[in-house]
Amino acid sequence: MKFFIDTANVEEIKKAMEWGILDGVTTNPSLIAKEGVDHKTRVMEIVKVVGDLPVSAECVESDYEKLLAEAKDIASWAPNIYVKVPMTPTALEVVKELSPNGVNFNVTLVFSLPQALLAAKAGASFVSFFVGRIDDMGSGEAAQNIEDAVQMVETYEFPKDPEILVASIRGPLQVVESIRSGAHIATIPYKIMEQLFHHPLTDLGVKKFYDDYLKATGKTA
Ligand code: G3P
Repeated sequence: MKFFIDTANVEEIKKAMEWGILDGVTTNPSLIAKEGVDHKTRVMEIVKVVGDLPVSAECVESDYEKLLAEAKDIASWAPNIYVKVPMTPTALEVVKELSPNGVNFNVTLVFSLPQALLAAKAGASFVSFFVGRIDDMGSGEAAQNIEDAVQMVETYEFPKDPEILVASIRGPLQVVESIRSGAHIATIPYKIMEQLFHHPLTDLGVKKFYDDYLKATGKTA
């Protein structure tokens, strides 16, 4: 499973790059707003850090002509930009229009299997299926949705061979469920990505091995 980081914070992205586990970056208008920076400026800073890894940058327009122009503009920023659009009929018209011309789309705010099918049929490269916002409502269907969506894209032919991207991740358990569901990608906030490295038994094991080494060699720490 590919690991994307879900942030517009450059320091967090640099850290994840240092860990050597990063496969891409997703941003959204809330994450950009949180950084208090201009959208294009920050996205270009991110591209500078991650090279040719996929970087998703989101549109905010909803009128067809304005969204078409915005998508073309964002797509022109760099070759590895994936234009993020919400799962709406108008946005899928834009995907249908531009995807055959080489624009890569990440269709976001997907919460149901029929929505995932529509996004894939329109020509999405990434289908961002939200789990946290579904689980937040107490419905335990998020993991099953991902499993069904992965099976769907692996069963049918679609214009852009779409990948299911698990988004809106709240904790390590949703990463586990994404792996078990065979998801292609998970986009993970920095704090949760950091948690994934740790297990108390690993820490105990490291200490025991070192203590045994010191004991065996008579060396001191
Ligand atoms: O970037 C899309 C998504 O991962 C954001 O999810 O629910 O944490 O705002 P959320």
